Amino acid sequence: MKKIITIVLLIIIIIGCATFIFYGTTSPSISLKKDSFQFEYGVPVFLRASDVLDTDNEKILNSFEVDTSKFIYKNHDYPEVGQYDCIVSYTKRNKEISDVIKVNIKDSTPPKFTKIPESITIEQGDDSSLVSNFEAKDLSSFDIKIDTNQLDVNVPGEYEITVNAIDSYKNTTSQTVKVIVKPKQEVVSNNVVQTPTTNGPRYVKGILIVNKKNPVPSNYAPGEDAQAVNQLRLLIQDMQRAGLNISNSYSGYRSYNYQANLYQNYVNNYGQVAADTFSARPGYSEHQTGLAFDLLHQDGSLVENTPEANWIAQNAHRYGFIVRYQAGKEAITGYQAEPWHIRYVGSIATDIYQSGLTLEEYLGVAGGEY
Ligand code: DAL
Ligand code: ZN
Repeated sequence: MKKIITIVLLIIIIIGCATFIFYGTTSPSISLKKDSFQFEYGVPVFLRASDVLDTDNEKILNSFEVDTSKFIYKNHDYPEVGQYDCIVSYTKRNKEISDVIKVNIKDSTPPKFTKIPESITIEQGDDSSLVSNFEAKDLSSFDIKIDTNQLDVNVPGEYEITVNAIDSYKNTTSQTVKVIVKPKQEVVSNNVVQTPTTNGPRYVKGILIVNKKNPVPSNYAPGEDAQAVNQLRLLIQDMQRAGLNISNSYSGYRSYNYQANLYQNYVNNYGQVAADTFSARPGYSEHQTGLAFDLLHQDGSLVENTPEANWIAQNAHRYGFIVRYQAGKEAITGYQAEPWHIRYVGSIATDIYQSGLTLEEYLGVAGGEY
């Protein structure tokens, strides 16, 4: 009898242990998948059990809750940027368990431009309104900052600036924008200097005429004329072979903006009345045609009152050039004599040269003052 009781007890113990081992090792487990989570700012935060917990048997999970009461909200349905500790509570087989997870709300989205023109035109010397051309949006506060390193607001021309929209987390959007600095309009005896817009270029007898009565538009930009430069090279070469002191360098094509700057500098230094006797206003210079060249000595000075100037006066027509502004003709050409300034007209140059007339007289067009 004692033996039987012992055997029964043994069997009970063995079954008990087996059951314990079985459940102890194969019981469905449940644990935190990870303890920190990141969300982009602006997105409502939802954490489901399957995001937070790892379990091989969902049936053992009786309840699940994330306490987000620490989240800070400011007039939105998404929490503010920050790191929050949240308590996760769940019941496993009716046993309550809780853990702490970190929820990180991060703003990594840069601002977006809502207004950014491709190019902006400002007046020389005035960049005060530049920033008002741009608008952007972002969920966080942001600044629009402009990098104007490349911009010289005092010199007319085309530039590039970089516009940056930077939010409070340093997320940045950048874009380059063209800035056109247009020359300041000068007031002369209460008359505003007219910037030519639609006039010209005017051709008479197939010859382009540019003088104080015949401007070219500000966007007229043909660049250096290839044929004229070829002829100029031959002329310079022949002068050098004749032992004359003439430079390979010259002042040729000038853009409207370049001339505007040059003219403005003369006005600043000599006053407008004097400047108008030797420098063309922007739009009125033959240099903007790519057909006019100022010849220089080897030291860079303009050719004047020298054997070189004589040679040019006698020979330039053989290369298709005329000396455009001659002494005694100031009232017709509108400028002081410039022995260095030659204008390419092609084969008709010889006829003009032999006529002894200015280009205005030869073509029968008005010249003189503006
Ligand atoms: N010096 C000449 C007139 C010009 O400025 O084009
Ligand atoms: Zn010139």
